[in-house]
Amino acid sequence: MKHLLSMKQLTNDKIHHLFKIAKQLENGELSWQAEGKFAANLFLEPSTRTKSSFHIAERKLGLDVLHLDGMDSSLTKGESLYDTLKTLEAIGADVAVVRQSEVGLLDSCAENVNLSLINAGDGCGEHPTQSLLDLYTIQEQFEEFEGLHVAIAGDLKHSRVARSNAHALQQLGARVSFVTKPEWKDSSFSHRYITMDEAVEQCDVLMLLRIQHERHKQKTSASSYLKDHGLTKERESRMKEDAIILHPAPVNRGVEIDSDLVESKKSRIFRQMSNGVTIRMAIIQALLKGEL
Ligand code: CP
Repeated sequence: MKHLLSMKQLTNDKIHHLFKIAKQLENGELSWQAEGKFAANLFLEPSTRTKSSFHIAERKLGLDVLHLDGMDSSLTKGESLYDTLKTLEAIGADVAVVRQSEVGLLDSCAENVNLSLINAGDGCGEHPTQSLLDLYTIQEQFEEFEGLHVAIAGDLKHSRVARSNAHALQQLGARVSFVTKPEWKDSSFSHRYITMDEAVEQCDVLMLLRIQHERHKQKTSASSYLKDHGLTKERESRMKEDAIILHPAPVNRGVEIDSDLVESKKSRIFRQMSNGVTIRMAIIQALLKGEL
């Protein structure tokens, strides 16, 4: 496998292989260096975590890194993403990490490029590297996925994180439930919808999603969302003893989650970000070494 575009490409064996590499990297047991190789990072939608952690992961692996933002590239003159990627390939890039807004666009480019492509989030489509770091964080806590109850809560309709995670978690044997407002239901998810009050009492992992105001026509009221659908302190007090809270971030503090809970005992939100560097190192290494 040359590209990572969707979690649907990864068997459970491949997911566990990436986790094994990540654990070895964490323990300082791997010293592979991609000397002489170039990574190109194309972020055409905003990003803090994914962009920065890919940069750090690439540098830790010894890659030279080229950053291309939408506004300072020839994409602004109408050059297509495909021609941009072919250009990067022609000048020597070995891997391109791409965030952009059109679902399916990167897949259509992938057929005819020789460099490795990594989907760093495509609009409301998929976010496979976020999913892998989420899964890695869950595995750190529970070791296995079989029988775990994961509730994915929030703006499902616009969430690439939810789409990638729902697929992967079910494939790995977890029971996945969804919590959302009626207008954010989406046919790509199962019909296992529960309320936030049911979720906090039943789930082992509560995966909160950011409300994607930028993709909405109508603004959602922050205070009423927290009270009706979010994780308040009162709801958190009803969670299982060893249950954990995930959120891909950026977090709308006081909307999806009470601000004080972001850094609480159950929260793994900043741990997810740290794991993002390790998992992205594992992905790049596995793709460049042809191990997937
Ligand atoms: N979780 C995530 O993708 O964050 P960024 O948009 O900041 O990269």
